[in-house]
Order: sequence, then structure tokens, then C-alpha cells
Amino acid sequence: MLEKVAVVGAGNVGATAAQRLAEKQLARTVVMIDVVEGVPQGKALDQWQSAPIEGFDTRVLGTNRYDEAAGAELFVVTAGIARKPGMSRDDLVKTNAGIVRSVAGEIARVSPKAILIVVSNPLDIMCYVAMRASGFPRERVLGMAGVLDTARYRMFLAQAMDVSVEDIQAMVLGGHGDTMVPLVSYTSVSGIPVSQLLPADTLESIVTRTRNGGAEIVAFLKTGSAYYAPSAAAVQMVEAIALDKRRILPCSAWLQGEFGIRDVFCGVPCKLGRGGLERVIEIALTDAERAALLESAEAVRATQAVVDAS
Ligand code: LAC
Repeated sequence: MLEKVAVVGAGNVGATAAQRLAEKQLARTVVMIDVVEGVPQGKALDQWQSAPIEGFDTRVLGTNRYDEAAGAELFVVTAGIARKPGMSRDDLVKTNAGIVRSVAGEIARVSPKAILIVVSNPLDIMCYVAMRASGFPRERVLGMAGVLDTARYRMFLAQAMDVSVEDIQAMVLGGHGDTMVPLVSYTSVSGIPVSQLLPADTLESIVTRTRNGGAEIVAFLKTGSAYYAPSAAAVQMVEAIALDKRRILPCSAWLQGEFGIRDVFCGVPCKLGRGGLERVIEIALTDAERAALLESAEAVRATQAVVDAS
């Protein structure tokens, strides 16, 4: 258990993440920070009041001041505006870059040793902005995307085969956008390659639906984007770090030559432990998957240039 975990942003993703963190008792104190006065305080008090019923001893505090999160070992950064229907994640880039830059600066001021898990979109770019603004090493800046995209992929596969989601092992790599790369060659059901269980065209349509998984929900909600699965994914990363589990999860990491990619954040298999990113795990890919991963990384790099110029 950590002493203090902070969640920046008390919107749907941040507040749901705070509640999940508390219910799992991953920290003694969960601090929810937001610029809007009253909202983090009210939501935190409401969540803490669920403690006697849910049976957790984690304290949930809401605040508008970063100083109250001083010394937190880990921050989940959800601040930023969400997508509206028809907006791409990249449309968000300039607004959210300004927000995440200031958030990361504040975090570095109050908790210079913290680990950051970035959730704000466009995800891979916001990781870059957070790393630059905090000055933190790559071990302490990770992006949540692959766990979410993989969860969607696993859910769709479980639905198509009418099997337990628990038995589906899979990984979605690449940037968190239309170029993400679900790895069909590494997808199995209790060790059985998925290609033996589903026809190729069904698999192909599931891959496409996974790529559009976020947009599918935005189209339904109209006024915001997904938050139940995104918060669950971020909390799974927190758990791997807080409990030093050494889990291998797909996360956005600053690549330094792994997979032939350098100086860009991109989703790859990462070993997560108490130090944050313990290691990027390089795996063999088919030619098509490798090409798709490189293309995805280049798409991220192009948007990164927009941020550098702003
Ligand atoms: C999604 C947003 C959170 O994929 O990017 O739903």
C-alpha cells in the first residue's frame, strides 16, 4: 500500500479512478485535485462516506491545492477537456497540452520523486508534455492506453466466442488512436491461438471495432468520453506499481531504440513495479505488425512536433 496517491482532475475519469483506488485500498490517502472549487471536496467526501459500507480505510480528500498532495508517491493525471462527437483525440492537443504542462509542473514542485500515470488525451502526446514539464525520467512517466484498448479487445473477443474475458490473453500496442496495433499473433484463449477459434473476417472486424472503441462510446454519450474502463485501466497500472507486482502490461513509454523507435511515446509491453517502468519488453512481431507499430509511432511523432512548436 502507498501512503498517498493523487488523482488530478475530478471529472468522470478522475473521480471514478479515485473511488476504485479507495475501494482497493491501494493507498492510505487518495487526494483528488481539481481547479473547480467545491467539486473535488464534494466528490471526495461522498466517496469517503461509502467507506463504512464498502469496507475500506483509505481516506479520500478533495482539494484545489497541489500542496495538499505534497509527497504523494504517485499521480494519475486525468486533467483536460474530453472529446466531443466528431473530434479526434488530436483536436484536443493544444488545449490539453497547456493544462498538462501546468499540472506536471505543479506535481514536480510538490512531489519531485513521484511516478506519473497520464490518462489525458491525446495520450501519447500528453505523456511527452508531462515528461518535459516535470523533468522526470522515463521510468516515472507512463501513459494509460494499452490496458484500456486491450480490455476492449478482450471484451469483444469474449463476446464473440462466448467465453470468459479472464481466459483471453492479448495485447494492443502503438499509439492511443486510430493507428493502434492489436496483436492478433499474441492473442490466445487459455493458450489456444485465437486464429483457431475465430474466422479471419470476424477477427478483422473486432480489430477495427477495438481501434474505434473510444469513438464508439463518445458517439453514444455525446457529451463526453468513456470513463468506467479508462479508470479501471489506470487503477490496474497503479496496483502493479503500488504492490510492486512486476506485471507486464501494455503502456505508453518513452522509447529509446526499443522496437527500432526512438524519442517518442508509444504503447509497448512494459514491466511495472515500484520503480514505475522497470523495463520495456521487446517481443518479436510479424512484418505487418512491426510496420503498423512504426507507422503508429510516426503518427505520434507528427503530433509531438505540433506541441514542440506551440
Ligand atoms: C477512450 C478515451 C479515454 O479511448 O481515449 O475512451
